Amino acid sequence: MTISVIAIDGPSASGKGTVAARVAQALGFHYLDSGAIYRVTAYAAQQRGVALDDEVGLAQLAVGLDLRFDGVEVWLDGRAVGDAIRTEEAGRAASRIAALPALRAALLQLQRGFRKAPGLVTDGRDMGSVVFSDADLKVFLTASAEVRADRRYKQLIEKGFDANLSALLQDLQERDARDAARAVAPLQQTADAQLLETSNMGIDDAVNWVLVAYTKASGMA
Ligand code: DC
Repeated sequence: MTISVIAIDGPSASGKGTVAARVAQALGFHYLDSGAIYRVTAYAAQQRGVALDDEVGLAQLAVGLDLRFDGVEVWLDGRAVGDAIRTEEAGRAASRIAALPALRAALLQLQRGFRKAPGLVTDGRDMGSVVFSDADLKVFLTASAEVRADRRYKQLIEKGFDANLSALLQDLQERDARDAARAVAPLQQTADAQLLETSNMGIDDAVNWVLVAYTKASGMA
């Protein structure tokens, strides 16, 4: 019997991580934030002096990562790095290295290893198109760039960080363009993914939408 996977892909700051984690909790499934893996890899590279354009060096580093997830916390070599990898700078570095095919290939097995019973909910850019192409449900979760910048702005202010709305918007648009334009596993809505546009939708409604779609997709309706 195959283990169920719900793949939620979409652009930066769309809220897909929050929705995916809540869906996982509701179903009692495991949760994988694949963006965190790219962020940790970029962070580890910077710590160890591996250049962000050294494709072979990054791929080697990725296969040897001592990485552990525990709720929202991420551990690298036994050290909590959750805050360090969730900065805007770490997101930019992750987006840069994510364009390198050898690094993406090196991370495939690591990501697939998170598929464990009773099921997995995962979010990223290519979870449905590449990593778990046989997922039971594929969702492309998005919102307008303005709404996403506004959500990110509020999140940062809430955490006590400085933030500038127009700089955030520009940064998001640059990141979207880079993630969508790369040759390997670009950010895109595939034909078999259902579109969830959340510009005018709250978290609870988005979570319910995914749960209903999963019930239908898995033939439980
Ligand atoms: O979801 P996020 O913002 O934490 O992801 C950070 C970067 O990692 C994103 O800009 C692109 C890259 N990424 C990717 O290429 N593929 C994934 N499955 C997840 C993230």
